[in-house]
Amino acid sequence: MNLNDAVLSRRSVRAFLPDPVPREKISKIVELARWAPSWGNIQPWEIVVADGEKAKLLAEAFVAESKKGAIPRPDITMPVDYPAIHKERYVSLGRALFTEMGIAREDKQARIEHYLNMYRFFGAPAVIYLTIDGGLNEPYACLDMGSIGTTICYAAVQEGLGTIYLAASMHYPDIARKILHMPETKKVVIGIAIGTPHPEAPASLFRSQREPVGKIMRFA
Ligand SMILES: Cc1cc2nc3c(=O)[nH]c(=O)nc-3n(C[C@H](O)[C@H](O)[C@H](O)COP(=O)(O)O)c2cc1C
Repeated sequence: MNLNDAVLSRRSVRAFLPDPVPREKISKIVELARWAPSWGNIQPWEIVVADGEKAKLLAEAFVAESKKGAIPRPDITMPVDYPAIHKERYVSLGRALFTEMGIAREDKQARIEHYLNMYRFFGAPAVIYLTIDGGLNEPYACLDMGSIGTTICYAAVQEGLGTIYLAASMHYPDIARKILHMPETKKVVIGIAIGTPHPEAPASLFRSQREPVGKIMRFA
């Protein structure tokens, strides 16, 4: 598979088959992704994989927490608002995704179920957690974490697997730390769900759009 194919066929998968991902495959993916660049080559990433029973336990605990109405309490600061242009893109993504999934605007129940499904990792059998030491400068270390995270997503494509970065996976980091035996000193940056994409579900096949180059780049 060449780079073009990997970049253009990667997408966020929102419906997975339950088939387990062999641990050797996940190790192979991380083996490649660890060559991602980081500031001063500090390689701040500490990766914890939740699969099998651990992934199920996490999903159950997250769903229960969300159903209790618990406000997300991520380690990494999440924005509460966006400038208009970015908000517009966010809203149009949701609109397009729900249309593709056949979820009507007024179907509150289906929307709630979709959000709960995020906490179930959309059925993925494993989640690759990217964590950092709490002593690191958070915003700057996150540049490095995006670098390895996206490399993981491309490496997964090469292995015939699908992925999705899931903010939902880091909403309740204390729960993840407890179930995955992580010390309090570690911060959960993000989880990337990984598995076999469902071959037919619209949530698995959905493609998002991008702005044209002329709108996002200029030669000064
Ligand atoms: C840091 C980060 C967090 C994300 N969290 C979620 C999430 O919680 N739920 C979700 O459905 N998609 C999530 N996504 C996926 C984005 O919506 C997706 O990357 C974007 O719409 C572009 O689509 P594509 O990945 O299919 O190209 C996240 C992506 C990133 C980079």
